[in-house]
Amino acid sequence: MLHIIFLFSLLFSSSHASVLDFCVADLMGPIGPAGYSCKKPAKVTADDFVFSGLGIAGNTSNLIKAAVTPAFDAQFPGVNGLGISMARLDLAADGVIPLHTHPGASEVLVVVQGSICAGFISSANTVYFKSLKTGDIMTFPQGLLHFQLNSGGSPALAFVSFSSANPGLQILDFALFANDFPSELIEKTTFLDDAQVKKLKAVLGGTG
Ligand SMILES: *[C@@H]1O[C@H](CO)[C@@H](O)[C@H](O)[C@H]1NC(C)=O
Repeated sequence: MLHIIFLFSLLFSSSHASVLDFCVADLMGPIGPAGYSCKKPAKVTADDFVFSGLGIAGNTSNLIKAAVTPAFDAQFPGVNGLGISMARLDLAADGVIPLHTHPGASEVLVVVQGSICAGFISSANTVYFKSLKTGDIMTFPQGLLHFQLNSGGSPALAFVSFSSANPGLQILDFALFANDFPSELIEKTTFLDDAQVKKLKAVLGGTG
């Protein structure tokens, strides 16, 4: 008898089954650390589990000559609560996704067209980078600074998947030079000189 009870408790404790099959994001509702609250099941439709935007090339006519088309919980309500999401990455011939982190997710990138040089920096400050060709995939562990840039002479296309419905994004250069972080404090905390800080603020739209 005890054995049977033990077996059952083991079965139940090792099961990760949720009370709910899904929790489609209620985009009108509040958002918290676990994501959006759930849409009423009666209002859920097949469209909540489909995102049709990844077949369309992003507009790379911008400073970084790159575009990211997200299919995160805000665009793709069906992934809310599932710990997964995707995005499309377009890189023009000289496009770059500057050093950035996703605080909430690890990432896997698959190159579908062209060549992409991608890499990340570990917390031991070891740099891991590689030139990827079509069909190659690379993973970027959660929270680490990483980058992707076009290393071929023609447009590149990749799809990325994340281990979160909302991976978050912080781009290092934008955090430093695209806001009102006082130049004096940037110089003291980065050891960059004033001319370099002012130059990058002018390019990225920073003030102060
Ligand atoms: C791409 O973005 C640029 C700059 O914002 C804009 O001028 C251009 O019209 C856009 N192209 C398309 C096809 O939307």
